[in-house]
Amino acid sequence: MKKISRSSSSGSSLDHTSHDIHSTVFPYFHQWRKSHGNVYVYWLGTEPFLYIADAGFLQKMSSGVLGKDWGKPNVFKFDRQPLFGNGLNMVEGHDWVRHRHAINPALSPANLKPMAILMVESTTKMLDKWRTFIASGSSSSSEMEVNKEITALSGEIIAKISFGTSRENHSIKVFEKLRALQMSLFGPNRYTGIPFSKLMSMKQTLKARKLGKEVDSLILSIIDERKRSDDGYSQWDFLGFLLNKKTLTRRELVDECKTIFFGGYETTALAITWTLLLLALNPNWQEQLREEIKCVMRDKELDLTKLPVLKKFGWVMSEVIRLYPSAPNVQRQAREDICVDGMIIPKGTNIWIDVVAMNHDPVLWGEDVHQFKPERFEEDINGGCNHKMGFVPFGFGGRMCVGRNLNVMEYKIVLTLVLSRFSFSVSPKYRHSPTTMLSLRPSNGLPLIVQPLQGFKGVS
Ligand code: HEM
Repeated sequence: MKKISRSSSSGSSLDHTSHDIHSTVFPYFHQWRKSHGNVYVYWLGTEPFLYIADAGFLQKMSSGVLGKDWGKPNVFKFDRQPLFGNGLNMVEGHDWVRHRHAINPALSPANLKPMAILMVESTTKMLDKWRTFIASGSSSSSEMEVNKEITALSGEIIAKISFGTSRENHSIKVFEKLRALQMSLFGPNRYTGIPFSKLMSMKQTLKARKLGKEVDSLILSIIDERKRSDDGYSQWDFLGFLLNKKTLTRRELVDECKTIFFGGYETTALAITWTLLLLALNPNWQEQLREEIKCVMRDKELDLTKLPVLKKFGWVMSEVIRLYPSAPNVQRQAREDICVDGMIIPKGTNIWIDVVAMNHDPVLWGEDVHQFKPERFEEDINGGCNHKMGFVPFGFGGRMCVGRNLNVMEYKIVLTLVLSRFSFSVSPKYRHSPTTMLSLRPSNGLPLIVQPLQGFKGVS
């Protein structure tokens, strides 16, 4: 075990044309899978976990369990409390049904339209800044830490989506504190599941609690101000929508705002970041996407009604989140005994589904599994995966990701605008080292060489 941990924490990087990342991202599971197969039990301190990287087993296990009957591992709940509270991804049972009914319509395509306009505004602002930055240098191109840029953009977008545009200062503070919280909760030296672990990382625990309370009081002040103002309920943003529905309590509103804020910015930012890396490595796909923009938008303004017609963008997104899933695992806890092929998964068992392993399994995808081939999604939304539960980047069943539509819209808008204005290649400084901190991220950022496009009109 020491050997595995040393090789994974040595800071060494992979060849960046290699997308065979499972052994880097989850070195223990990679090793144990070799000796125990795709389904086995492991222990996190005193907690038993069922590891699953078997699509057939996953299907049988999940087929008889409704969304409301799934649990989320209690062992993670204490740690994640400051970040998500009792938000949608943590809540269970009838409360989950009530929360899900309140939130689903807020993120439905009909309600997303006004959000699209502000995505265009924020992205255009970022790209204007890039252009000015490059023009101020002596060369026609410039190196940029693109992961940082896209994360900031996505944070700005989710802040506006969550709280509207009137309380920008408060929203920015919420964003900064949630990021600091994430670092303190998922950085090294956490001892989840180990008895008395809270005492072993007391300093981090207290810091996280303090940050969590600060975020709560910022959001509460936004809620109270909105309730006092005349138009507080009539706005299109997420909070306005939920206030209008009046089905959630003040405390529940805070937790849902935190959940959507955190769930909404990082996953999408990472999907776009990994896409920029893969497009930088595959300039022919940059060209194919530009051709599609030209064909669909016809050199005019970005027409938001035509986003669904950008088919190749859809294939590229699916291929990127297959190779580099923003959510690298899905977690559940059995609240009742579950029977699979005559074997009982006892009530209380934690379940850890390895999305990275399944997405990189040649048995499911074929020998070209580690190659970037968006065309595999051309004829089949499942990318030719030979089992329908082998590709679950947004989860499965009733608890499937509630932010899928929002993510696809933001992904297409941001990339259409970026590709219309810039071309990019990988900087020699880039070191390929994907790592998990709840989500799957490039541990050394993503420096790219960015160059303004001459003569391509794309969209304005
Ligand atoms: C590339 C983008 C995204 C990916 C890969 C992703 C992935 C996932 C996954 C794997 C789950 C767990 C599902 C399960 O347990 O079966 C999930 C749940 C969830 N996601 Fe996403 N997500 C993305 C974007 C978003 C966005 C943009 C939002 C919010 C605006 C969001 C909010 C949520 C919430 C609230 C849940 C909990 C749903 C529930 O338990 O009912 N996600 N997501």
